[in-house]
Amino acid sequence: MNTNDELILSEIDEHKICTITFNNPKSLNALSVEVLGELKRALLRISEQDVLGVILTGAGEKAFVAGADIKEMLTMGNEDASRFSLLGQEVTLLMESLSCPVIACVNGFALGGGLEMALGADFIYCSKNAVFGLPEVKLGLIPGFGGTQRLARVVGRNIAREMIYTGKNLNSEEAKSIGLVNQVFETKEELINGATKVLLKMQKNSIFAIGRAKQATVGGVDLELSKGLKLESDVFAGLFDSYDAKEGTAAFADKRPAAFQHMKGE
Ligand code: CAA
Repeated sequence: MNTNDELILSEIDEHKICTITFNNPKSLNALSVEVLGELKRALLRISEQDVLGVILTGAGEKAFVAGADIKEMLTMGNEDASRFSLLGQEVTLLMESLSCPVIACVNGFALGGGLEMALGADFIYCSKNAVFGLPEVKLGLIPGFGGTQRLARVVGRNIAREMIYTGKNLNSEEAKSIGLVNQVFETKEELINGATKVLLKMQKNSIFAIGRAKQATVGGVDLELSKGLKLESDVFAGLFDSYDAKEGTAAFADKRPAAFQHMKGE
């Protein structure tokens, strides 16, 4: 199925992998209110469809997303800015709530709101020309789509503060060395192929179980250990009446590959 909302492209392939593309390369895929609204609608559609993996990327070779739309922000007052920030945050929360894996494929600049979108994914792959940064303080602002909260959770408090306070850029290898990026690919084509390959590899496992693992890791991140362990235990136990858990364990006992349905099933 193809849908083309212009600023956001959303395409589901024969393997049920959905590629979402920020599609405004003339302004380096900057995030306006309209773009975020389209992205929100695309993610809501995915949440209702049979999708087993999502790739998030940017049109063109130069940018994933070069940040929130600065030209649009020029005219914003406090209330507009509050709505803008909450919308950007809502979109990242929607990505985290999807019950399938989401990989951000960063193909160039991922600055400000762009990096914040990537941080909403489960993990980040990038091409060699990728550039990461939260330069908002250079504009007299701070990150508004989750960067002050999520970056530290990924790379640690000290590195996050250094990046946010200096607004400095990191290249792909630097981003990999601090654990912001899992893997660097030579070209954009290799990047998308690499992400597709890993999503297909995941489909040999139960995507239903992966969705639940995501729920436990996302939900547990801010909990004290005892509450996180309780969440894990509840999710673990809740899987035992699923088709995939019955099939996966039976297949092991029968010494045959499992045929997962990727849903709760019967
Ligand atoms: N918003 C609006 N337009 C943008 C943009 C942005 N974030 N980033 C780039 N563009 C536009 C440019 O204005 C330019 O448009 P025109 O041709 O109409 O002038 C076009 O995209 C190409 O950009 P450049 O000519 O600047 O390209 P470059 O190669 O010289 O530089 C760049 C690339 C270093 C990424 C530079 O464009 C840049 O610094 N962009 C802004 C990065 C930034 O500050 N991002 C953070 C935004 S604030 C934010 O994101 C807040 C938040 O957390 C919610």
